[in-house]
Amino acid sequence: MKSTLKGMTFLMLVIVGSWSCEHEVAKVNPLYAVVTDTTTTNPPVVPPITPVDPITVVNACSADTVYFASQLFPLILSSCAMAKCHDNITKAEGVVLTDYANIMRYVSAGSPTNSKLYRSLIDNDPGNRMPRLPVAPFTQTQIDLVAKWIRQGAKNNSCNTSSVTNCDTLKMSFVTNVSPILKSSCTGCHNATSPSGNINLTTYAGTKVIASRLSGSLNHLAGYIAMPSSTIKLSACDINKITAWVHQGALNN
Ligand code: HEC
Repeated sequence: MKSTLKGMTFLMLVIVGSWSCEHEVAKVNPLYAVVTDTTTTNPPVVPPITPVDPITVVNACSADTVYFASQLFPLILSSCAMAKCHDNITKAEGVVLTDYANIMRYVSAGSPTNSKLYRSLIDNDPGNRMPRLPVAPFTQTQIDLVAKWIRQGAKNNSCNTSSVTNCDTLKMSFVTNVSPILKSSCTGCHNATSPSGNINLTTYAGTKVIASRLSGSLNHLAGYIAMPSSTIKLSACDINKITAWVHQGALNN
Protein backbone atom coordinates (compact mmCIF):
# COMPACT_ATOMS: atom_id res chain seq x y z
CA MET A 1 0.00 0.00 0.00
CA LYS A 2 2.75 2.36 1.07
CA SER A 3 4.77 1.62 -2.04
CA THR A 4 1.70 2.14 -4.27
CA LEU A 5 1.24 5.56 -2.69
CA LYS A 6 4.90 6.34 -3.22
CA GLY A 7 4.59 5.26 -6.83
CA MET A 8 1.57 7.49 -7.42
CA THR A 9 3.25 10.49 -5.82
CA PHE A 10 6.24 9.95 -8.07
CA LEU A 11 4.01 9.70 -11.14
CA MET A 12 2.25 12.95 -10.22
CA LEU A 13 5.57 14.68 -9.74
CA VAL A 14 6.64 13.50 -13.18
CA ILE A 15 3.43 14.81 -14.71
CA VAL A 16 3.60 18.16 -12.89
CA GLY A 17 7.27 18.44 -13.82
CA SER A 18 6.54 17.84 -17.45
CA TRP A 19 3.97 20.64 -17.57
CA SER A 20 6.08 23.27 -15.91
CA CYS A 21 8.44 23.99 -18.78
CA GLU A 22 6.94 22.71 -21.97
CA HIS A 23 9.40 23.16 -24.73
CA GLU A 24 12.50 22.46 -22.67
CA VAL A 25 11.27 19.00 -21.82
CA ALA A 26 9.81 18.37 -25.28
CA LYS A 27 13.03 16.90 -26.62
CA VAL A 28 13.74 14.50 -23.79
CA ASN A 29 10.46 13.68 -22.12
CA PRO A 30 8.66 10.81 -23.87
CA LEU A 31 5.53 11.60 -21.86
CA TYR A 32 5.26 15.00 -23.52
CA ALA A 33 5.80 13.47 -26.94
CA VAL A 34 2.94 11.03 -26.43
CA VAL A 35 0.57 13.77 -25.24
CA THR A 36 1.17 16.05 -28.21
CA ASP A 37 1.85 13.52 -30.91
CA THR A 38 -0.99 13.98 -33.39
CA THR A 39 -0.13 10.75 -35.17
CA THR A 40 -1.14 8.59 -32.17
CA THR A 41 -4.73 7.65 -31.51
CA ASN A 42 -4.79 9.97 -28.45
CA PRO A 43 -6.45 13.29 -29.27
CA PRO A 44 -3.90 16.13 -29.03
CA VAL A 45 -4.15 18.22 -25.85
CA VAL A 46 -2.95 21.38 -27.60
CA PRO A 47 -5.31 22.48 -30.36
CA PRO A 48 -3.61 22.90 -33.73
CA ILE A 49 -3.02 26.34 -35.18
CA THR A 50 -5.29 27.17 -38.10
CA PRO A 51 -4.93 27.10 -41.03
CA VAL A 52 -3.11 23.83 -40.54
CA ASP A 53 -0.06 24.00 -42.72
CA PRO A 54 2.61 21.59 -41.46
CA ILE A 55 5.26 24.15 -42.38
CA THR A 56 3.57 27.08 -40.65
CA VAL A 57 4.50 26.55 -37.04
CA VAL A 58 6.17 28.74 -34.27
CA ASN A 59 9.58 29.30 -33.25
CA ALA A 60 9.52 28.51 -29.56
CA CYS A 61 12.64 30.64 -29.50
CA SER A 62 11.95 34.13 -28.14
CA ALA A 63 11.79 36.80 -30.82
CA ASP A 64 13.54 39.29 -28.50
CA THR A 65 16.62 37.17 -28.01
CA VAL A 66 19.50 36.73 -30.42
CA TYR A 67 20.73 33.14 -30.34
CA PHE A 68 24.32 32.26 -30.98
CA ALA A 69 23.62 28.80 -32.38
CA SER A 70 21.00 29.54 -35.02
CA GLN A 71 21.56 33.24 -35.79
CA LEU A 72 24.94 34.61 -34.83
CA PHE A 73 27.14 31.64 -35.63
CA PRO A 74 25.79 30.93 -39.15
CA LEU A 75 26.41 34.60 -39.96
CA ILE A 76 30.00 34.50 -38.67
CA LEU A 77 30.67 31.14 -40.28
CA SER A 78 29.53 32.29 -43.68
CA SER A 79 31.02 35.79 -43.60
CA CYS A 80 34.20 35.35 -41.56
CA ALA A 81 35.14 31.73 -40.81
CA MET A 82 34.91 30.37 -44.33
CA ALA A 83 37.90 28.82 -46.13
CA LYS A 84 40.83 31.19 -46.84
CA CYS A 85 39.69 33.63 -44.12
CA HIS A 86 39.28 33.09 -40.37
CA ASP A 87 39.11 29.30 -40.52
CA ASN A 88 41.44 26.91 -38.68
CA ILE A 89 43.73 26.56 -41.69
CA THR A 90 44.23 30.10 -42.98
CA LYS A 91 43.82 31.97 -39.67
CA ALA A 92 43.96 35.35 -41.42
CA GLU A 93 45.87 37.78 -39.17
CA GLY A 94 45.98 35.02 -36.56
CA VAL A 95 42.24 35.28 -36.06
CA VAL A 96 40.16 32.10 -35.89
CA LEU A 97 36.37 32.48 -35.69
CA THR A 98 35.23 28.89 -36.06
CA ASP A 99 33.69 28.44 -32.62
CA TYR A 100 32.26 30.30 -29.65
CA ALA A 101 35.42 30.26 -27.53
CA ASN A 102 37.52 31.74 -30.32
CA ILE A 103 34.89 34.32 -31.26
CA MET A 104 34.76 35.48 -27.64
CA ARG A 105 38.41 36.52 -27.85
CA TYR A 106 37.14 39.52 -29.83
CA VAL A 107 34.00 40.22 -27.84
CA SER A 108 33.48 42.13 -24.63
CA ALA A 109 30.12 40.84 -23.39
CA GLY A 110 27.68 43.70 -22.88
CA SER A 111 29.61 46.29 -24.88
CA PRO A 112 29.58 46.31 -28.69
CA THR A 113 31.90 49.32 -28.88
CA ASN A 114 34.53 47.55 -26.77
CA SER A 115 34.29 44.48 -28.96
CA LYS A 116 36.79 44.17 -31.79
CA LEU A 117 34.37 41.88 -33.61
CA TYR A 118 31.74 44.62 -33.74
CA ARG A 119 34.18 47.49 -34.42
CA SER A 120 35.64 45.67 -37.42
CA LEU A 121 32.17 45.54 -38.99
CA ILE A 122 31.61 49.29 -38.80
CA ASP A 123 35.14 50.53 -39.59
CA ASN A 124 34.93 53.44 -42.06
CA ASP A 125 38.20 52.44 -43.69
CA PRO A 126 37.39 49.77 -46.32
CA GLY A 127 40.94 48.46 -45.82
CA ASN A 128 40.15 47.59 -42.20
CA ARG A 129 36.47 46.85 -42.43
CA MET A 130 35.32 43.23 -42.21
CA PRO A 131 34.39 41.16 -44.05
CA ARG A 132 36.71 41.99 -46.93
CA LEU A 133 35.49 42.01 -50.51
CA PRO A 134 34.27 40.02 -52.39
CA VAL A 135 32.20 39.23 -49.32
CA ALA A 136 29.74 42.12 -48.94
CA PRO A 137 29.96 44.36 -45.87
CA PHE A 138 27.34 43.51 -43.25
CA THR A 139 23.96 45.11 -43.77
CA GLN A 140 22.67 47.39 -41.00
CA THR A 141 20.33 44.56 -39.94
CA GLN A 142 23.26 42.17 -39.57
CA ILE A 143 25.34 44.77 -37.71
CA ASP A 144 22.39 45.38 -35.37
CA LEU A 145 22.04 41.65 -34.80
CA VAL A 146 25.68 41.36 -33.70
CA ALA A 147 25.33 44.43 -31.44
CA LYS A 148 22.16 43.07 -29.87
CA TRP A 149 23.74 39.68 -29.20
CA ILE A 150 26.72 41.36 -27.52
CA ARG A 151 24.47 43.68 -25.48
CA GLN A 152 22.45 40.66 -24.35
CA GLY A 153 25.62 39.21 -22.86
CA ALA A 154 27.16 37.46 -25.88
CA LYS A 155 25.91 34.13 -24.59
CA ASN A 156 26.58 30.73 -26.09
CA ASN A 157 22.83 30.27 -26.30
CA SER A 158 20.46 28.26 -28.42
CA CYS A 159 16.78 27.51 -28.40
CA ASN A 160 14.62 24.60 -29.39
CA THR A 161 14.95 24.86 -33.13
CA SER A 162 12.77 21.80 -33.69
CA SER A 163 9.75 23.59 -32.28
CA VAL A 164 8.17 26.32 -34.38
CA THR A 165 4.90 28.22 -34.38
CA ASN A 166 3.88 31.70 -35.56
CA CYS A 167 6.35 31.46 -38.40
CA ASP A 168 4.68 32.92 -41.47
CA THR A 169 5.55 30.80 -44.48
CA LEU A 170 2.66 31.67 -46.77
CA LYS A 171 3.56 33.20 -50.14
CA MET A 172 7.32 33.24 -49.69
CA SER A 173 9.25 35.63 -51.90
CA PHE A 174 12.80 34.97 -53.05
CA VAL A 175 13.79 38.61 -52.69
CA THR A 176 12.06 39.41 -49.41
CA ASN A 177 12.22 36.14 -47.49
CA VAL A 178 14.77 33.72 -48.91
CA SER A 179 17.62 35.87 -50.14
CA PRO A 180 18.21 37.69 -46.79
CA ILE A 181 18.63 34.33 -45.01
CA LEU A 182 21.06 33.10 -47.66
CA LYS A 183 23.01 36.37 -47.44
CA SER A 184 23.32 36.04 -43.68
CA SER A 185 24.29 32.40 -43.47
CA CYS A 186 25.44 31.02 -46.80
CA THR A 187 26.86 33.40 -49.38
CA GLY A 188 30.25 33.82 -47.70
CA CYS A 189 30.93 30.31 -49.01
CA HIS A 190 28.47 30.17 -51.90
CA ASN A 191 29.19 33.30 -53.96
CA ALA A 192 30.14 33.97 -57.57
CA THR A 193 33.90 34.24 -56.92
CA SER A 194 34.26 31.19 -54.67
CA PRO A 195 31.18 29.03 -55.14
CA SER A 196 31.68 26.15 -52.67
CA GLY A 197 30.41 22.93 -54.21
CA ASN A 198 29.95 24.97 -57.40
CA ILE A 199 26.87 26.54 -55.83
CA ASN A 200 26.22 30.29 -56.00
CA LEU A 201 23.44 31.43 -53.68
CA THR A 202 23.82 35.15 -54.35
CA THR A 203 21.47 35.04 -57.35
CA TYR A 204 18.06 33.58 -58.10
CA ALA A 205 19.41 31.46 -60.96
CA GLY A 206 22.15 29.96 -58.80
CA THR A 207 19.70 29.19 -56.00
CA LYS A 208 17.05 27.74 -58.32
CA VAL A 209 19.52 25.15 -59.67
CA ILE A 210 20.05 23.67 -56.20
CA ALA A 211 16.54 24.35 -54.81
CA SER A 212 15.57 20.70 -54.55
CA ARG A 213 18.59 19.99 -52.30
CA LEU A 214 18.03 22.92 -49.91
CA SER A 215 15.53 21.46 -47.47
CA GLY A 216 17.32 18.12 -47.02
CA SER A 217 20.62 19.83 -46.54
CA LEU A 218 19.27 22.44 -44.06
CA ASN A 219 17.41 19.76 -42.11
CA HIS A 220 20.58 17.60 -42.01
CA LEU A 221 18.78 14.64 -43.60
CA ALA A 222 20.61 11.47 -44.57
CA GLY A 223 21.89 11.61 -48.13
CA TYR A 224 22.52 15.37 -47.99
CA ILE A 225 25.53 17.41 -47.00
CA ALA A 226 24.50 19.24 -43.81
CA MET A 227 24.41 23.05 -44.12
CA PRO A 228 25.49 25.58 -42.94
CA SER A 229 27.68 23.00 -41.16
CA SER A 230 27.39 19.53 -39.65
CA THR A 231 27.02 21.04 -36.17
CA ILE A 232 24.90 24.10 -36.96
CA LYS A 233 21.31 24.36 -38.08
CA LEU A 234 19.48 27.54 -38.99
CA SER A 235 16.43 28.36 -36.86
CA ALA A 236 13.42 26.18 -37.68
CA CYS A 237 11.55 29.27 -38.87
CA ASP A 238 14.26 30.12 -41.41
CA ILE A 239 14.44 26.51 -42.60
CA ASN A 240 10.66 26.44 -42.96
CA LYS A 241 10.62 29.68 -44.94
CA ILE A 242 13.14 28.33 -47.46
CA THR A 243 11.38 24.96 -47.62
CA ALA A 244 8.03 26.67 -48.19
CA TRP A 245 9.49 28.81 -50.98
CA VAL A 246 10.71 25.63 -52.72
CA HIS A 247 7.32 23.92 -52.23
CA GLN A 248 5.61 27.00 -53.63
CA GLY A 249 7.53 26.57 -56.88
CA ALA A 250 10.91 28.22 -56.14
CA LEU A 251 9.66 31.32 -57.96
CA ASN A 252 11.70 34.34 -59.01
CA ASN A 253 9.47 36.62 -56.97
C1 HEC B 1 31.65 27.50 -44.38
C2 HEC B 1 31.24 27.39 -45.76
C3 HEC B 1 29.80 27.09 -46.08
C4 HEC B 1 28.68 27.70 -45.58
C5 HEC B 1 28.59 28.80 -44.54
C6 HEC B 1 27.56 27.12 -46.28
N1 HEC B 1 27.99 26.16 -47.16
FE1 HEC B 1 26.80 25.00 -48.35
N2 HEC B 1 28.43 23.95 -48.98
C7 HEC B 1 29.74 24.25 -48.65
C8 HEC B 1 30.60 23.31 -49.33
C9 HEC B 1 32.13 23.30 -49.26
C10 HEC B 1 29.76 22.44 -50.05
C11 HEC B 1 30.17 21.26 -50.95
C12 HEC B 1 30.54 20.13 -50.09
C13 HEC B 1 30.93 18.94 -50.92
O1 HEC B 1 30.61 18.90 -52.10
O2 HEC B 1 31.54 18.06 -50.32
C14 HEC B 1 28.40 22.86 -49.81
C15 HEC B 1 27.28 22.24 -50.34
C16 HEC B 1 25.99 22.74 -50.24
C17 HEC B 1 24.81 22.13 -50.84
C18 HEC B 1 24.74 20.83 -51.60
C19 HEC B 1 24.29 19.79 -50.59
C20 HEC B 1 23.90 18.49 -51.18
O3 HEC B 1 23.73 17.54 -50.40
O4 HEC B 1 23.73 18.41 -52.39
C21 HEC B 1 23.76 22.95 -50.55
C22 HEC B 1 22.31 22.76 -50.98
C23 HEC B 1 24.27 24.04 -49.75
N3 HEC B 1 25.62 23.87 -49.59
C24 HEC B 1 23.49 25.04 -49.25
C25 HEC B 1 23.92 25.92 -48.28
C26 HEC B 1 23.05 26.85 -47.60
C27 HEC B 1 21.56 27.00 -47.89
C28 HEC B 1 23.82 27.52 -46.70
C29 HEC B 1 23.38 28.55 -45.70
C30 HEC B 1 22.38 28.18 -44.77
C31 HEC B 1 25.18 27.03 -46.83
N4 HEC B 1 25.20 26.06 -47.79
C32 HEC B 1 26.23 27.49 -46.06
C33 HEC B 1 30.18 25.28 -47.82
C34 HEC B 1 29.36 26.11 -47.07
